[in-house]
Amino acid sequence: MTNKVLLNGRFVDEKDANIPYNDRGYNFGDGIYEYIRVYDGTLFTVKEHFERFLRSAAEIDIDLEETVESLTQTVQSLIDENNVQNGGIYIQATRGASPRDHAFPGPDVKPQIMAFTKSYGRPFEELENGIFAVTVEDIRWLRCDIKSLNLLGNVLAKEYAVKYNAAEAIQHRGDTVTEGASSNVYAIKDGVIYTHPINNYILNGITRQVIKNVAEEADIPFKEETFTVDFLKNADEIIVSSTSVEVMPVIKLDGEAVGEGKVGPITRKLQEGFNQKIEESHNK
Ligand code: PDD
Repeated sequence: MTNKVLLNGRFVDEKDANIPYNDRGYNFGDGIYEYIRVYDGTLFTVKEHFERFLRSAAEIDIDLEETVESLTQTVQSLIDENNVQNGGIYIQATRGASPRDHAFPGPDVKPQIMAFTKSYGRPFEELENGIFAVTVEDIRWLRCDIKSLNLLGNVLAKEYAVKYNAAEAIQHRGDTVTEGASSNVYAIKDGVIYTHPINNYILNGITRQVIKNVAEEADIPFKEETFTVDFLKNADEIIVSSTSVEVMPVIKLDGEAVGEGKVGPITRKLQEGFNQKIEESHNK
């Protein structure tokens, strides 16, 4: 059975899911997206994801005429249709299809919404053993708070990581660590978690919000402060987080062991708390 893709309110077969050549997402990257996890058939932190989706749209003046509730209903029916138990849902909205011109089209051009699902399990092996990361200069635009389809800076950073056999690239603007190519970054030193404050230089990660809650509940200090690449290199533990990688330990940075070169105790505590949050999401 082929998977269905959501195209502007209709479910179509994957092979028939075509986008017009002059869609502004395709021509300009003029649109926004979200990626939401499904655990045992339940959408995780879906409200937070769709609040951010609507905020991203509003920040670039795309009027979606949707609500958190309507979007949740739509993706839930796609998950049911494709029978996703464990996996995720990608949803994007573009400013619509119209003859190529940088300026916005008129009000007759409507946003185009597309969503597809993926089925896969949690990354247990990496969560247990940790991953390698490299550092790279952050060359992205100055509105990284918008989850924009324009991911060229992120794509180049990730490819740099792949080139050096790492799973993630940790970006920095000058000396200041910002975030990963597709994750938020945390340095843990002397029992304190440090992470970049929420502003235009990083995405306000939903997983970051969950980790912040877990840390507060466990009485682990969580400091939203900038830190340098040097500070990161001298951290006891490093974590990257995202919807797909959850609370992911980094055990090697630029080829050097992080702390003792193995997953540390604060990381383990945060992972346990995160698992608890997944459990709780089933009982809501
Ligand atoms: N990316 N920062 C960037 C640049 C990201 O691309 C992501 C996630 C995050 C973490 O956000 P969250 O915890 O809400 O997933 C931070 C997703 C997974 C993606 O692009 O597929």
